Amino acid sequence: MDQIIVTGNGPLDGEIPIAGAKNACLTLMPAALLSDEPLTLTNAPRLSDIRTMTALLQSLGAEVAALQGGQVLAMAGHALNGARADYDIVRKMRASILVLGPLLARTGQAVVSLPGGCAIGARPVDLHLAALEAMGAEMELRDGYVHAKAPAGGLRGAVFEFPLVSVGATENALMAAVLARGTTVLRNAAREPEIADLARCLRRMGARIEGEGSAEITVEGVDRLGGATHPVVVDRIELGTYMLAPAICGGSVECLGGRIDLVGAFCERLDAAGISVSETDRGLKVERRNGRVAAVDVVTEPFPGFPTDLQAQMMALMCTAEGTSRLEERIFENRFMHAPELMRMGARIEVHGGTATVTGVERLKGAPVMATDLRASVSLILAALAAEGETVVSRVYHLDRGYERVEEKLSAVGAKIERVRGG
Ligand code: EPZ
Repeated sequence: MDQIIVTGNGPLDGEIPIAGAKNACLTLMPAALLSDEPLTLTNAPRLSDIRTMTALLQSLGAEVAALQGGQVLAMAGHALNGARADYDIVRKMRASILVLGPLLARTGQAVVSLPGGCAIGARPVDLHLAALEAMGAEMELRDGYVHAKAPAGGLRGAVFEFPLVSVGATENALMAAVLARGTTVLRNAAREPEIADLARCLRRMGARIEGEGSAEITVEGVDRLGGATHPVVVDRIELGTYMLAPAICGGSVECLGGRIDLVGAFCERLDAAGISVSETDRGLKVERRNGRVAAVDVVTEPFPGFPTDLQAQMMALMCTAEGTSRLEERIFENRFMHAPELMRMGARIEVHGGTATVTGVERLKGAPVMATDLRASVSLILAALAAEGETVVSRVYHLDRGYERVEEKLSAVGAKIERVRGG
């Protein structure tokens, strides 16, 4: 397995291009199953999760061609084969469950493996199933698979209120509703920018959707969808991650393609910590105003609140902040696995239930550490950038799921970072 070696190397300076959003692409790709005409995505990120979703769609009979090094995905769902979404693919990537709604809406049936849990939590899919059942689907859980069937005349529009905000369940329900008969109203829907991006793409394909980005989305079902070409929205989590590099190391970095509207709550916390963010005509410029950053408190919430996917990275910044910071993780039940690894680098962190209390130290020290999940792994890289000495991060396959060419992007702004190919 590959390792990444980082040596603390002082302030950073330069520019980092931000890729298309992994979590937008992972819901835009299954949308190709809704139509028998081609869907082409541009600005697609080059990540292992995208390659996993490609393999899954191909196993279902869709054609997916990765062009221009993977930045363009040309897809066609005209020859679906009724195959099931197999456990050996689904267990690698939970987002596979997002083929359920489109398959059900387009073909009237779907057999999809239950994703199972992952490192950060049990990750149930009950809300996905409940929303589709509200549209008339019959669901049977058998030998680890969801066997779903639409009514003879197809899914019916429904009014459904989510008991808690779920990004994936909102995406599955939205994709099913665009081909359901009649009107669907999704209440307490997730408001993430990736859902707004999905709605924009579906509208290009001929869907009739209103309210995306708000808590209530209304869909008028149509008989069929056409094809489209759609640019994947910029990745707000990769953006926030790289904004933290100059925050932790000092210096000034311009994140190309960054948009302030995608990271509002995150920027408010950076400002409180003493990090300045300014909009340029190419993206967002981030500089550390003076000396040590100030400790600030963080509570993760659904968008537009502080994103859970930036909690681990923010903790890395707080490890060397002046004062004590409380980070409350309200979305997932086990998302502090980066804490013990940061403590190996000298961080002072106490975890009690869903809250981590970080007492800042002057400087961390490099150490061998282990990546446990996607965002935890990049928080270790961030901490290592400013640590004294060398840090070796193992199990970086977690990192490659969500960050393309991380060592190239950080080296380009002066970081001392290299990948060592593993056995
Ligand atoms: C999406 O996961 C993202 N993944 C996650 O990013 C992100 O952390 C999460 O949204 C929250 O923003 C993709 O978009 C591929 P949820 P998702 O359904 O849809 C509970 C990353 O690092 N829940 O909004 O799975 C669930 O257990 C990944 O890129 C149910 O109880 O998240 C969690 O506690 C990690 N029943 C909460 O809701 C359900 O049926 C929010 O989960 C569904 C979810």
